[in-house]
Amino acid sequence: MSFFRLSFSMKLEISGQRELSGEIRISGAKNSALPAMAASLLTDELLLENIPMVEDIRSMALLIEGLGGRIKIQKKKNKIKINNNNLKTVEAPYEYVKKMRASILVLGPLLTRFGEARVAYPGGCKIGARPVDLHIENLKRMGAEIRVEHGTIIAKAKDGLKGSRLSFEKVSVTGTENIMMAAVLAEGETIIENAAKEPEVTDLANLLIKMGAKIEGAGTDLIKIKGVKELHPVEYSIIPDRIETGTYLIIGSLIGKELHLYNTIPEHVRSIVLKLNEAGIFLEEGKDSFTVKRAKKILPVDIETQPFPGFPTDMQAQFMVLLTQAEGRSIIRDTIFPGRFHHVDELLRLGANIKKLGNGEVSVMGKTELSGAEVLATDLRASASLVIAALIANGKTIIHDIFHLERGYERLSEKIKKVGGKIKKIK
Ligand code: EPZ
Repeated sequence: MSFFRLSFSMKLEISGQRELSGEIRISGAKNSALPAMAASLLTDELLLENIPMVEDIRSMALLIEGLGGRIKIQKKKNKIKINNNNLKTVEAPYEYVKKMRASILVLGPLLTRFGEARVAYPGGCKIGARPVDLHIENLKRMGAEIRVEHGTIIAKAKDGLKGSRLSFEKVSVTGTENIMMAAVLAEGETIIENAAKEPEVTDLANLLIKMGAKIEGAGTDLIKIKGVKELHPVEYSIIPDRIETGTYLIIGSLIGKELHLYNTIPEHVRSIVLKLNEAGIFLEEGKDSFTVKRAKKILPVDIETQPFPGFPTDMQAQFMVLLTQAEGRSIIRDTIFPGRFHHVDELLRLGANIKKLGNGEVSVMGKTELSGAEVLATDLRASASLVIAALIANGKTIIHDIFHLERGYERLSEKIKKVGGKIKKIK
């Protein structure tokens, strides 16, 4: 199955300063789709809807097929059907895990359903060290024997996992998701303290509950799970992507004549909207939509990333571009991934005035005129920031290595072209 052309050598050519007007439909959330696909390992079959057809979904599909799962993808309908009633192995090899850290999400489901799992230890990535120690520690507290050998996490729970009282010393999104999935088939009650409250965690809990799990408190920092014997197949439609929403809100604030975003959940981007308001940008908000126009004047604001409901680290790079157009000095601090600033060097090539201050802090001076140049995408959200910068820069920008972008933004070029942007893929 290959619903994507591999776009390693592809580039994006963008001509800047064209005002954008029209409608953009927000796609399903990548970071909801990935745990939902992993949850398919907890039962025989799942039908998932509103799945974004992006590269990371393809990676997770290949991983599950590698385990022996059977996947049917209806690309046009954004649907995925996964049948796992004859898995062949509990081993998630390095070839899949190296492409996507979220592969760690199969550890909990495999361990709790089959009593063992072997998952390659996920490497780091561009945005910084990405340990999984909290996943492993908490699974051990649930009775798993886990050791790491030759780069592989080898986990065993012969007599199944035991419900336990657990606490995360650091809020971890996939850590919370992994433990929640491990706990739904464990014996007895599991309590997770300092759980992640991201909407994607709540979405996963809602899917598991529909499958027959007993979960209370998802969306708060205290989640209680009562283990059940088994979960049953269901159909489920996942939530819209709040980071895609935020990305287009920034684009509209900078170069939108009248951009209408629909099929979104305003509550999920509240921290971003409030920050935009602080910068002097006001949006029209509907039940499941926003209308955004370019701001006449943008005020400098300080940003500090926090777990949900705080300002998301996944929006830090995009908001940085907006602040290059603010009149004054802004400070951005990423408390979650202090090294997540690879986009800075590329934005400097476009004329931005940004200084790295160390310990996860940068200062952005505005208002600076950006001018088109050749730049290099390094990770998913950094590449989104380069697209935003290219849309406001004068002249042409060429972004190399856009496979990073295709990991998490569905049909980005099409969506921007449809509202008047001049953007095309080139070899
Ligand atoms: C999820 O990653 C998201 N990915 C990331 O989105 C997002 O940036 C991140 O949460 C923070 O919101 C998915 O949901 C698939 P964490 P995750 O565990 O779960 C430390 C994107 O662009 N930590 O919440 O891997 C960790 O180092 C991606 O879509 C440990 O120390 O992040 C970080 O400082 C990029 N030990 C902090 O916790 C652990 O065992 C939060 O990480 C786990 C995490």
